[in-house]
Amino acid sequence: MGITNREFKKRRKEIMSRMEPNSIGLLSSAPECLRNNDAEYQYRQNSDFYYLTGFTEPHAILALVPGREQGEVILFCREKNEEKELWTGYILGPEAAIDSLKIDDAYPIEDVDEIISGLIEGKDRIYYSMGRDDHFDRQVMTWVKNLRNNAKVGPPPPSEFQVLDHLLHELRLIKSPAEIKLMEKAAKISAEGHKAAMNRCVPGAKEYELEAELQYAFTRSGSRSPAYQSIVGAGDNACVLHYNSNKAEIKKGDLVLIDAGCEYEYYASDITRTFPASGKFTKEQKLIYEIVLLAQKEAIKAIKPGNTWDAPHNASVKVITKGLLELGLLKGSLSRLIKSQEYRRYYMHRVGHWIGMDVHDVGDYKIDGHWRLLEPGMVTTIEPGIYISPSDNSISKKWRGIGIRIEDDVLVTKTGYRILSTGIPKTVVEIETHMSTKVN
Ligand code: GLY
Ligand code: MN
Ligand code: MN
Repeated sequence: MGITNREFKKRRKEIMSRMEPNSIGLLSSAPECLRNNDAEYQYRQNSDFYYLTGFTEPHAILALVPGREQGEVILFCREKNEEKELWTGYILGPEAAIDSLKIDDAYPIEDVDEIISGLIEGKDRIYYSMGRDDHFDRQVMTWVKNLRNNAKVGPPPPSEFQVLDHLLHELRLIKSPAEIKLMEKAAKISAEGHKAAMNRCVPGAKEYELEAELQYAFTRSGSRSPAYQSIVGAGDNACVLHYNSNKAEIKKGDLVLIDAGCEYEYYASDITRTFPASGKFTKEQKLIYEIVLLAQKEAIKAIKPGNTWDAPHNASVKVITKGLLELGLLKGSLSRLIKSQEYRRYYMHRVGHWIGMDVHDVGDYKIDGHWRLLEPGMVTTIEPGIYISPSDNSISKKWRGIGIRIEDDVLVTKTGYRILSTGIPKTVVEIETHMSTKVN
């Protein structure tokens, strides 16, 4: 399972076919990042760079030169160095890179300044992701400046700069069968983590103990990192959208909101479940839960090719506003509450986002100012929620501090949708049954 060299090559061909004639595309690997003093954060390749190469090392630059007779795909990477490898591990090196990555040429990264002018020279435009990496921005500008300084004797430097992002991200937005398989695998691993955390939850435990269950399930199955910091929020903490300190004690009447997903082979999952610490929902928790669950169901039903990206969101807003109105938590007419967005007091985020190599994945949501249409191969999260502020004195105490989100990853298919994150208890009955059947 994974992305084959053939698919990486196809992606490069496709991006090059979308570039204007006489252009060069330049990409840089992700920089290494210090956590403290000599200790680095775990290295993760830039998603765009990986998408086009499958190469996972730092200190690399990729040049795409469509139409270049001697070879269109050129990689600059670290040279092999046995002494260094003894400390930092395996380095592929330019020689092996050609065959291993099925590219046309590879050179030591130390030689990039010297070689790249020859590749840029005579080109009309440069595609690259400007403004994202200061070091790379400076590098590209230095190459252009050097060409300008030589322009009296050589051709003028490129006069156009275009963001590569747009072309590339439209490709990344539509997932191939191999990508979908990896996303399903990521979701499957995450499902194990969610099930374990839910099952092992007992009042008195600390939030981080459940985070440990997730982490154990992720790592044990070959995920090298969560796709984002896991959120384990009990009680009032469930109302903090990006809570991740995960240090509080879980109390008996609390709801526990877990928003966690692993990354597997560069593909993310993003899943949320909310469950009662004691294993049984209270009456109020259940009432709110059923609204969120129905909102998710209706939002998912709105996923099909030809519907706008906004359709699932609108479906969720309708269910949530109606539900809160029926419980007396909102007052007024349904249509006015929706129009004035008063529901945002309890449901303040959108229903989802693209997901892929990045958890909040690339790809435009609007085209020419209008919500784009869903197409087969797109993957979006569907994650409605209701969060009732613990300090909202204008409503009855019994509702305060209830925070519920339910999130799944959903693929747009030719005829509708397919949920990729399956097998995790979701209905009230499923959750209560799962929690009452303790496994060790
Ligand atoms: N876990 C981040 C999100 O749901 O968007
Ligand atoms: Mn999430
Ligand atoms: Mn999400």
